[in-house]
Amino acid sequence: MTRYQDVLQHLKNHPYHWLITGVAGFIGSSLLETLLTLNQKVTGLDNFSTGHRHNLEQIRELVGEEAWLNFSFIEGDIRDLQVCRDACKGMDYVLHEAALGSVPRSIQDPIQTNENNISGFLNLLVASRDTQVKRFIYAASSSTYGDHPGLPKVESVIGQPLSPYAVTKYVNELYADVFARCYGMQSVGLRYFNVFGPRQDPNGAYAAVIPQWIAALIRGRTLYINGDGETSRDFCFIENVVQVNLLAALAENSEAVNQIYNVAVGERTSLNQLYEMICASLVEKFPDLRNHKPTYADFRRGDVRHSQADISKAGKMLGFEPTHRIDEGLKQAMAWYIAHLAPEKEATGESA
Ligand SMILES: NC(=O)c1ccc[n+]([C@@H]2O[C@H](COP(=O)([O-])OP(=O)(O)OC[C@H]3O[C@@H](n4cnc5c(N)ncnc54)[C@H](O)[C@@H]3O)[C@@H](O)[C@H]2O)c1
Repeated sequence: MTRYQDVLQHLKNHPYHWLITGVAGFIGSSLLETLLTLNQKVTGLDNFSTGHRHNLEQIRELVGEEAWLNFSFIEGDIRDLQVCRDACKGMDYVLHEAALGSVPRSIQDPIQTNENNISGFLNLLVASRDTQVKRFIYAASSSTYGDHPGLPKVESVIGQPLSPYAVTKYVNELYADVFARCYGMQSVGLRYFNVFGPRQDPNGAYAAVIPQWIAALIRGRTLYINGDGETSRDFCFIENVVQVNLLAALAENSEAVNQIYNVAVGERTSLNQLYEMICASLVEKFPDLRNHKPTYADFRRGDVRHSQADISKAGKMLGFEPTHRIDEGLKQAMAWYIAHLAPEKEATGESA
């Protein structure tokens, strides 16, 4: 039995109360689905700035009405301390996902990114401290490696941040560490690398590359590759991310707590390779893609050139074993996007 199977078994028999911030977003809604199927009680907090009600509706359909009764939702903003205090009351665990993602967005509007990602984070830390939650698990980011050229990335060696977004995610780590020292709080920071999967938003200027490209191909729009296509990433399927959140929350070894972990698969895929993989998996359903050519655009400011994680620390300390490599994840994600992004749905605004 793997550690994760152990944890899943434990959860089925022990209902806890979880707060998921950013629950209407991509990662938050996936955490919600898994926790509700494990008979857990969940409170979700979201202000719908980048998340969607239809994500919550989808989880309701997936888990069924009985499990859905274990979910309560607060529409509110983490920039409001009182909202955070109310949301944290009575919680065992906090999974903090709410933030404004995207490097380009942060370059465009550093103040909004700072307020949501730093002030909001601090509010939630204070509220979690004062309500004495068991543990605070939060979304950190691989952008914290900044300009450090070393590969694969190990948690203890970082460079200078390359964007305001990266600054905010690093400040989160510093605050969590200081709260452990000053107040004895238990937290775990998860440096997600590029996460992808069902419900990741394909729309808007700040969409992540995988949903953006799948949508462009399905809708017959121009597909842009930033730079020469040799930029590389360690793409991580959502189920691996859900796994590590639960492992971190229930880790029993005290040395595993108040740590930062890379969350990825440990492999590197270039944008050109990713483009080929996505086209290949869509071509059967969309034969016109056989002749498709991408359009190469400028490199994006603030982007790290190469990214690949060393995931041995999460393996050793938490028992993390990714279950999905990029090709397996893409297969599942693709089925979802084909079902929810058919071209005829776009005109009516039913994008997901
Ligand atoms: N997706 C990735 O590849 C990736 C990589 C590294 C880190 N992360 C981090 O993981 C977390 C989740 O990312 P995601 O991809 O699910 O993004 P997402 O945009 O789909 O979800 C974020 C959610 O937080 C909510 N939110 C934002 N600001 C809020 C506020 N002030 N108050 C209440 N709710 C607020 C949004 O409405 C949204 O539902 C974020 O912290 C992000 O920075 C994501």
